[in-house]
Amino acid sequence: MLKRFLSRIALALLTTGVIICLIYAGVAGNRLRTGKYRVFKLAHSLDPSHPVSKSLVYMAEQLQNISGGTMKIDIYPGCVLGGEAEMTEQLQNGIIDMMKSSGAAMEVFIPEMKVFGLPYVFRNRYHFWTVLDGAIGRELLDKGQTKHIYGICFFDAGSRNFYTRDRAINKPEDLEGLKIRVQGSRMAMRLVETLGASPTPISFGELYSALQQGIVDGAENNLPSFFSNKHYEVCKYFSFDGHTMIPDMLIMNLNVWRNLNQQQQQWILEAAERASKYERLLWRKQTQEALKACRKLGVKFSYPDKKAFIRKVAPLLQRYEKSSVLGELLRRIRETPDKVRE
Ligand code: GCU
Repeated sequence: MLKRFLSRIALALLTTGVIICLIYAGVAGNRLRTGKYRVFKLAHSLDPSHPVSKSLVYMAEQLQNISGGTMKIDIYPGCVLGGEAEMTEQLQNGIIDMMKSSGAAMEVFIPEMKVFGLPYVFRNRYHFWTVLDGAIGRELLDKGQTKHIYGICFFDAGSRNFYTRDRAINKPEDLEGLKIRVQGSRMAMRLVETLGASPTPISFGELYSALQQGIVDGAENNLPSFFSNKHYEVCKYFSFDGHTMIPDMLIMNLNVWRNLNQQQQQWILEAAERASKYERLLWRKQTQEALKACRKLGVKFSYPDKKAFIRKVAPLLQRYEKSSVLGELLRRIRETPDKVRE
């Protein structure tokens, strides 16, 4: 009898304890989402060793410092929360607060972003960064607001190049008949088609096994991504044709952004700017390191004559030069001078 009474009391105490904990966790959780202390959930597709990944960690450290420990970012790398399309949906629904997206994946929400999917638009990385650091860059970051997306900053993602399992790509004809993985981007599909290959959209997280199983014959990307996701284990041919330069973007749920006070917004922009500058240096360093390491691992690099590629894609460019929105943007980009800023 006494035993049963005591065990009931114990159960009651335990239940009350659990309820108190749950209430406290709820209050604390709300406080983290709305009050003085903020914890943001940031997701992305890249491996933790990738320069963009490392720069996001750097940004989190910077934010924690400049906000006096009141703002924190929890990072979910390597597509653990899904591919870029799924992550963007979660961002728009407020399930995650921030994400890194490729500029290519953003073209669905910001049609002007298609300009980066056009081939051979930028003369060099200085031209590219002068455009992104200037008025055009800010305009593009602001354009996602009607889709609940606030653009924070850009990250370097170098130039994109073809790599394949069994064949070196030295001229556009070498791409004929090959299945090439592309990002979820219409512009990427059109470009690969124009070059004579057949484009297959696959999420970055699933690409290694698609290459391994021969679902695609190759893909296109920058060298640090090829290296950090170990695509060299399957693809031994990498060709520096440099067909596009597409930046990565750090974006945030617009409501989460608007609910921050001015000081908090300022801290985020400051931390992001530091991270973007840091990433550009890291990019160059890690690209060189990846080149050396891949050579040792047996990757054969080729440096094709870009003129043949430029000739082959000319009709695609001409088509968009005539379109009102992209045509005007292309003209402004081309008129932007290169400034050396590193
Ligand atoms: C690059 C880019 C990533 C993108 C990836 C892809 O690595 O930086 O943002 O996810 O390409 O091809 O999907």
